[in-house]
Amino acid sequence: MKKIIAFNWKMNPQSLGEAKKLFNSYLLLYSSSKKEIIVCPPFIYLYELKDLKTKNLKLGSQDVFWENSGAFTGEISPKMLKNLGAEYVIIGHSERRQNLNETDEMINKKILAALKTGLKIILCVGENLKTRKQGKKAVENFIKSQLQKDLKNLPLNSLLSKTTSRKGLSYILNSRLIIAYEPIWAIGTGNSDSPKDAIEIIKLIKKTLNSIFYILNPRVLYGGSVDSKNIKNFLQCMQCNEIDGFLIGSASLQPKEIKNIIKL
Ligand code: PGA
Repeated sequence: MKKIIAFNWKMNPQSLGEAKKLFNSYLLLYSSSKKEIIVCPPFIYLYELKDLKTKNLKLGSQDVFWENSGAFTGEISPKMLKNLGAEYVIIGHSERRQNLNETDEMINKKILAALKTGLKIILCVGENLKTRKQGKKAVENFIKSQLQKDLKNLPLNSLLSKTTSRKGLSYILNSRLIIAYEPIWAIGTGNSDSPKDAIEIIKLIKKTLNSIFYILNPRVLYGGSVDSKNIKNFLQCMQCNEIDGFLIGSASLQPKEIKNIIKL
């Protein structure tokens, strides 16, 4: 299966002109890539970028609300995102959890609503530095609890039609739900996790998804200060095939970095 590289532009750039120019860096390189590329710009640029993109380049948004319409000032619905051309949505990014007090309960509602509308989800989980310092068991408990709360009440029955087997259900969920393991202390710090430690947690995430949600072979990305240099360590280590791709922030704004990452 192709590795996924999701590029998260966060609250950048500041004008549509710049967004189009940046997007062009992806378009110029994309056809030569062996990876599945997802670009996640701010909402406001999605529609214009949709018209520029080639068929195989995917667009995602960075958040979504859990209702499809109504009196929710400032929010954006799953349906609006679909109509704007988004195929994926990042949910539960740690910057939203921390800066906007987004809770697991809110994240769970967003996931259920987005799944219902047919959007594909990139769910971010990851521990802070304090938890990491408490050791492996603390990190494991933290991530497990996030997954259990965020994925509560997944609509297994509605996804599983009478004719599909558990394997079929796993297949459906796999293509709709990606997890990004993003240790908070590694995001935007230039201080990425070691491949060895990241793989340990990624394996735990896969085991949890398998045992609780019957998801076989789920796809789990690593995110946190990934750039064109250190990405090679994550691609060439022992058990690196456990990492199904990357969620990339800062480097997603730099044409040279984009080029070096996409052509890998
Ligand atoms: P970073 O961001 O690559 O700048 O660390 C990753 C993310 O926030 O998704």
